[in-house]
Amino acid sequence: MSENVRPYKESSESKKVQVAKMFDNIAHKYDFLNHFFSLGIDILWRKKSIRLLKGRPSEMILDVATGTGDMAFELLKLNPKKVVGVDISQGMLDVGIKKIKEKGKESIMEFQLGDSEEMSFADNAFDIATVSFGARNFEHLEKGLGDMHRVLKKGGSICVLEFSQPQAFPIKQVYTFYSRYIMPGIGKLVSKDKAAYTYLPESVQVFPYGEKFAEVLRKVGFSDVEIHPVTGGIACIYIAKA
Ligand SMILES: C[S@@+](CC[C@H](N)C(=O)[O-])C[C@H]1O[C@@H](n2cnc3c(N)ncnc32)[C@H](O)[C@@H]1O
Repeated sequence: MSENVRPYKESSESKKVQVAKMFDNIAHKYDFLNHFFSLGIDILWRKKSIRLLKGRPSEMILDVATGTGDMAFELLKLNPKKVVGVDISQGMLDVGIKKIKEKGKESIMEFQLGDSEEMSFADNAFDIATVSFGARNFEHLEKGLGDMHRVLKKGGSICVLEFSQPQAFPIKQVYTFYSRYIMPGIGKLVSKDKAAYTYLPESVQVFPYGEKFAEVLRKVGFSDVEIHPVTGGIACIYIAKA
């Protein structure tokens, strides 16, 4: 179960508290490490997510687990009236808020502290809700996705971008070696958080992907689920209707 895989094994704090602390710790290096480890491919995955959402109503957009805002900034390409980002890590949000100011997007973007499992927004408030590389970190996956369903208008769209598990040779073997042996060492050195980049592959291992994840989306009320694997199945983009 993904809620049992937590960053700091010696700590008895809840997954949510540990995840928020971990992202506060690595916030200053998050953008650099993210693009470095993926060789920039995560940027292409976010762009593909936007292409898949094009043509759908997009006036009001919510980006859950927005972190430093990389997905939220991409979402501006859908010409929304407003993009709201929520996250449980103030450290990550502070980096994102600085970027909003630098890019002069204060009138259209707003980031706030908030928990995906009990958001303060009204029912039926958004046309699109996205979560990229965040769902895996939720303490209660169904509660988090369920609350995204609640705040979406009927017929609105959810887009989840998340790591998956590649199955084909040799991408499976190369990726497993890279994420188990290369990433934790470099991640620890640069971020100074010894657990963060060990937690990443561990959390991917126990997270549902493909049809199993689609089932979770249906269970919390979504329909018309599309599964789009990217880069040999290293990640998947899921789109569905509320
Ligand atoms: C790997 S980062 C992804 C950030 C950003 N979406 C991106 O694509 O780069 C995961 C983020 O999820 C946030 N997070 C984890 N659990 C959350 C929750 N229950 N509610 C809101 N944010 C959460 C973390 O604080 C962290 O900033």
